[in-house]
Amino acid sequence: MNEALEKIKQKILDGEAQLTNSKAVYEFKKSFLDSKTGKIGQLMKEMRNIPPEERAGYGKGVNELKEWANQFFSDIEEKIKEKELQLKYESEKIDVTMPAKSVETGNLHPITQMRNQLIDVFTGMGFEVYEGTEIENDYYNFTALNTPKDHPARDMQDTFYLSPEFLLRTQTSSGQIHVMESKKPPIKIISPGKVFRSDDDATHSPMFTQMEGLVVDENITLCDLQGMLDMFVKKIYGDGTVTRLRPSYFPFTEPSVEVDCSCFECGGKGCKLCKGTGWIEILGAGMVNKKVLENCGIDSEKYSGFAFGIGIERTAMLKYGINNIKLLFESDLRVLKQLDD
Ligand code: PHE
Repeated sequence: MNEALEKIKQKILDGEAQLTNSKAVYEFKKSFLDSKTGKIGQLMKEMRNIPPEERAGYGKGVNELKEWANQFFSDIEEKIKEKELQLKYESEKIDVTMPAKSVETGNLHPITQMRNQLIDVFTGMGFEVYEGTEIENDYYNFTALNTPKDHPARDMQDTFYLSPEFLLRTQTSSGQIHVMESKKPPIKIISPGKVFRSDDDATHSPMFTQMEGLVVDENITLCDLQGMLDMFVKKIYGDGTVTRLRPSYFPFTEPSVEVDCSCFECGGKGCKLCKGTGWIEILGAGMVNKKVLENCGIDSEKYSGFAFGIGIERTAMLKYGINNIKLLFESDLRVLKQLDD
């Protein structure tokens, strides 16, 4: 082989040690094999200066060198690619034995859990859910519920008025009127929602949650109310729990009752939770006042009904043994985590 060709071959061989990555291989290869600028490419242009009798041998030599160089570089390219792939695999390797970061999962708020639980119990007994509005007018919150203006019973609920006519509802009982105005008996609904009263101490908050229940049909009696409440307390507080009714007063029910359940903590013997009485007050209820039925255009001779109102915070406080309602509203995770069912 021509001496010049030998030199080029040697140069390629000498350069091999520096070919540590694909870019270096590409650049080095180009400097020899690029058809215009490459050293081997240029050898062909030298052809003119070669005496005619040597041209055939020269051309053959250049072609052989070119073939050799092509083979040489493709071998190297293959090796380098293999090496680079290996490095990539190494760097992307995942250690499946590494301990994972724990992800904290959230919970429904205890009030929402309690509310859902109550809804489950009552829908299981055939009640439908009606959701009213938090802003009400005076008529639905009071007047239609047999509590006209200047009725002393308005004092039982310190009200946030938005205007002389509109207010933040003080009780979900306002929902009773909406339902009875729009639906003919038989009616069997519950209505959960927020209510508002200007009241603030360890067991009262200006905003709290109630769940109203209303059943209107022919021949509904107080016994139906107590039978249903007995089922309710067994589901929420346990099988051995029973209820008792005490006389009370609400303008929209007649008779009105305060409902107690036997203490689920001591079974009725008397403890701190039931203040030694064996009974815990859980809700207000009664037979729907005839005047309220008539206000809604329901024939009070033909139909009768019962209604009840449960405080959801109170139910949760009793169930979880919390003595301050504020704990439910402070969003302190240390507390809320303990109240998960
Ligand atoms: N609305 C009453 C209250 O908030 C509770 C209640 C509801 C009483 C239905 C009787 C019937 O105190």
